[in-house]
Amino acid sequence: MQFSHTQQGRGMQRFQRACAYLFSPDHARDPRFLETLDEKMVKQAFRKKAKQYHPDLHGHEARNLRHRRRERFVRIKESYEYLSLKIHDHARPAGHAPQKTREKRPVVIAVGGAKGGIGKSLFAANLAIYLSRCGYRTVAADLDLGGANLHLYLGKTRLRKSVNDFLKKKADTLAQVLEHTAYGPELIGGDSSFLGAGNIGFARKLKLMKAVRKMDADVVVVDLGGDTAFNVLDFFLSADVGVVMTTCDPASYLEAYAFIKVALFRKLNRIFGPESFYSGPVDPVLRRMIREATQTIDNSAVTGISQLRQEVRDKTGSGLRVLDQVLKQYTPFVIVNKAGDTASALPPVQRIQKVCRKSLSIEVPYLGCLPFEPGMEVSARTLVPFVTTPEAAPYAERLKTMTEQLLPF
Ligand SMILES: Nc1ncnc2c1ncn2[C@@H]1O[C@H](COP(=O)(O)OP(=O)(O)OP(=O)(O)O)[C@@H](O)[C@H]1O
Ligand SMILES: [Mg+2]
Repeated sequence: MQFSHTQQGRGMQRFQRACAYLFSPDHARDPRFLETLDEKMVKQAFRKKAKQYHPDLHGHEARNLRHRRRERFVRIKESYEYLSLKIHDHARPAGHAPQKTREKRPVVIAVGGAKGGIGKSLFAANLAIYLSRCGYRTVAADLDLGGANLHLYLGKTRLRKSVNDFLKKKADTLAQVLEHTAYGPELIGGDSSFLGAGNIGFARKLKLMKAVRKMDADVVVVDLGGDTAFNVLDFFLSADVGVVMTTCDPASYLEAYAFIKVALFRKLNRIFGPESFYSGPVDPVLRRMIREATQTIDNSAVTGISQLRQEVRDKTGSGLRVLDQVLKQYTPFVIVNKAGDTASALPPVQRIQKVCRKSLSIEVPYLGCLPFEPGMEVSARTLVPFVTTPEAAPYAERLKTMTEQLLPF
């Protein structure tokens, strides 16, 4: 990897520190090694170190040893992600340096919610069709990698290309895997019919997220899987607008809250990570506190964000301001689907909002509810999108109100 003068100084120090963790301090000081470093070497080194330091592989050890190993593993993982990101950015062909002028990029709307079968994909499909009919150049992207079915809801029973072609490097860009649909939106379809489809590695996930954000479209509607796997959370967090779906059932709204919570923890966990938007100076105490409060390897002493805020206020100078800035910027919308009427949709939303305010110190805006539509079940069977049918006028009216909040331009 060639180093330009812009990568000297702090950037270079960080690069070398990451190499020291993943390889060795000697490697990090060797300019020849740094120049030959590539993605494959980084991946191999990570696998080797992960075997050595992953705390789950050393459950028999004394607690303090395990703690030290875990700390080390967190650093190794951060280093791996940082180096992957840097090398990936650098691998862009010559002459394709990022443009200084701001490119027009699409608004990415991700539809999530941890419960399966509540209507996320049908909503994503109908919203994409509605937006397309409103004149937005719309792409519907199926990123439910392990349970892809968005194409069916857009009337396509067979896909000639899918996101997997892009992930397996058979296609260079997402534009090459777009499929045209009869209802307006372009489609990035998914294919979950092979083992491991849902488990993509960090580098491929990063590549996919970047490519989605760079699509030549006005809006990209992303359909996500019904769980809280890291890939799902990362796709959700990388969108401009996150929509969390629930129904009125307790199992559904409790899982909607769980999804909002773990996505926030993931966001905080990565706040100073390589994908972070936050580029200000790093307060090491804040960094450690956030990591300890949100990491998933061991249970933390901190039970909620409100408690974390209290501790950050006591122990750091400007840390609370940074933390509050992140909390303020995290505003997933909530939608209630299959609601009997607008009144019955309110209690679950109010419960979610109350516990989010109390435990997570965040506000979650309510986007509205969608009625239970018998025609929707028919549409899921006949593969004719509901919003295109004559009886969908009230449903389309709800989509209109939601769109006005999601895309206020
Ligand atoms: N507004 C609605 N009214 C009536 N039925 C609905 C509505 N929305 C969704 N459904 C029903 O819910 C079923 C599941 O919908 P969908 O496949 O969109 O769920 P999902 O949340 O994407 O599930 P998964 O998490 O498994 O991907 C559909 O087959 C349909 O019958
Ligand atoms: Mg789905």
